[in-house]
Amino acid sequence: MRTKSLGQTGALLVCTGSDCKKCGSKELCGALRACLKEAGLQRDVRVQKVRCLGCCGKAPNVLSIPTGVLYSDVSTKDAEKIARSVK
Ligand code: FES
Repeated sequence: MRTKSLGQTGALLVCTGSDCKKCGSKELCGALRACLKEAGLQRDVRVQKVRCLGCCGKAPNVLSIPTGVLYSDVSTKDAEKIARSVK
C-alpha cells in the first residue's frame, strides 16, 4: 500500500470541549487557519479540533505539535503569534 505524504510538519490542536467552546475556540480555529494561510503555512501546519486537553480552567487551549507548547486563555488576537510559532 502506498501512502502520500501531506508534507505537514506541525499541527495546532484546538480544544473544542465545552469550556473552550464557550470561550470562543471555534472562532479561534478560523482565525488560526486564516493566519496560517496568510503566512503561507496552510500546507505545513494543520488546525485540528480535539476534545478536552485537560486544562479547562484556562480555556480556550491550543496545543502546538511538535513543539508541545500549550497556549491557554488565548483569543483570536493571539492567533497570528501562535500560528507563526509552530514552524
Ligand atoms: S474543555 Fe478545553 S481543555 Fe477541557
